[in-house]
Order: sequence, then C-alpha cells, then structure tokens
Amino acid sequence: LQSYIGHIINVMPSLLQGAVITVEVTSLSVFFGTIIGIFMALGKLSKSKIFHYPSVVYIDFIRGTPLLVQILLFYYGIPGLISNVTGEPLRIDPILAGVVVCSINSGAYVAEIVRAGIQSIEKGQMEAARSLGMSHAQTMKDIILPQAFRRIMPPLGNEFIVLLKDSSLLAVIGVPELLKSGQLYVATTFASFPVYIGVALVYLVMTLTISRLVHYSERRLGVGND
Ligand code: ARG
Repeated sequence: LQSYIGHIINVMPSLLQGAVITVEVTSLSVFFGTIIGIFMALGKLSKSKIFHYPSVVYIDFIRGTPLLVQILLFYYGIPGLISNVTGEPLRIDPILAGVVVCSINSGAYVAEIVRAGIQSIEKGQMEAARSLGMSHAQTMKDIILPQAFRRIMPPLGNEFIVLLKDSSLLAVIGVPELLKSGQLYVATTFASFPVYIGVALVYLVMTLTISRLVHYSERRLGVGND
C-alpha cells in the first residue's frame, strides 16, 4: 500500500501537466466545434440543397463513425495519402491534429444541439418577425438564436464533459494529455493500478467541477424558466 501511495505522489505532477493539455485541447475543440456546429445546424435547416446536403453528410459521417477511427484517419491516413501524392513525407503535430479532429467531431454533435435549440423556439416567433418586415437571416440572428442560446447552454456543457473524457483517445497518437501522461509513467514503473486510479480520479474531479459550474451558470441564466 505504501508503494501505491508513493507512486500516486510521484506520478501526480505529470498527471496534472497532462490534465492542463486535456483542458486546453477540449476547450479549443468545443470552441471551434460550436462555431462549426452553428453553421452546420443552419445548413441542415436550410431549404437550399447546396447547404442542406453537405451539412447532413458531415453530421451523419461524424456521428456515425467512432472518434478513435477519425483520429487515426486524420493523423495517419490523410497525411499518408498526401505523402503518396506529393512524394514528400508529411508529419503533423499531434496536439494540432488532436484539436482539429476533436473540433470537427464536436461540430457535428453541437450542430444537432443547436438545431434542436432552434427548432424548440415557437414558429410564431419567425412568422411575427417576418411580418414586421425583418429578413429571414436577420430574424434568425436577432430573434431566434438569442432565445435558442439559453436552451443550448445545458447540452453544450454536457458536450464539454463528454469531449473532456473522450479526448483521452488522443493518447493513441501521442498527445501528451492526461491519460498519455499516466501511460508514460506506467511504461517505466509498471505501477498500473495506482496510476490508472490516479488518472481516473483526475478526470472525475474535472468532470464534477465542470458539471457544478454548468449547473450554477444555468441558474444564473435562468434556463428552464421560459
Ligand atoms: N464516444 C463517441 C465516439 O467514439 C462520441 C465521441 C465524441 N462525442 C462528442 N460528443 N463529441 O464516437
């Protein structure tokens, strides 16, 4: 038991460094994912086929395939294809690749969150604004999206938590995030039990903290009071 505690104490600094990378990658990915998601939601809701079909294909492909496969495809598959075409070896930074893949992945999930949020706003709001002479785009931006935003907040917080945990898949391409930091320590010490318990607890502390923060900000925003 004493050696288990010793390992936990020894590994903790690298786990915390890894946790910083985990939070950074997740935050950037949910940020870019939200931007992608808003456009894809509008695309999917659009009556114009040029916007509708690409959004549907993107959302279906991302949500219908495992994140792990997307990570391997983006980090090994696509650079490999490009190297074959150009004849030059191509290597991308794992952290950059991780942020790109997780942003693209998150975008598809956020798109469905945003679409559901928009569709939850009564149709009469659009009709009323249109009858006052506002354009469709203007109504969307000034009337519908601000109201949808309050309903989108809680599932967006949930998306952050899901991605925080699933970003552990980036360990397979060598992103020095939380899980990878633990694995590196296990590789030299074989102390798998204390290390993986430690890794799990650091994830747990982070997810519990975030869900508390989300609850708190929901109350302040008055989500659910409308
Ligand atoms: N676990 C699922 C997968 O591997 C979801 C991944 C990401 N989820 C998310 N909400 N961004 O495909």
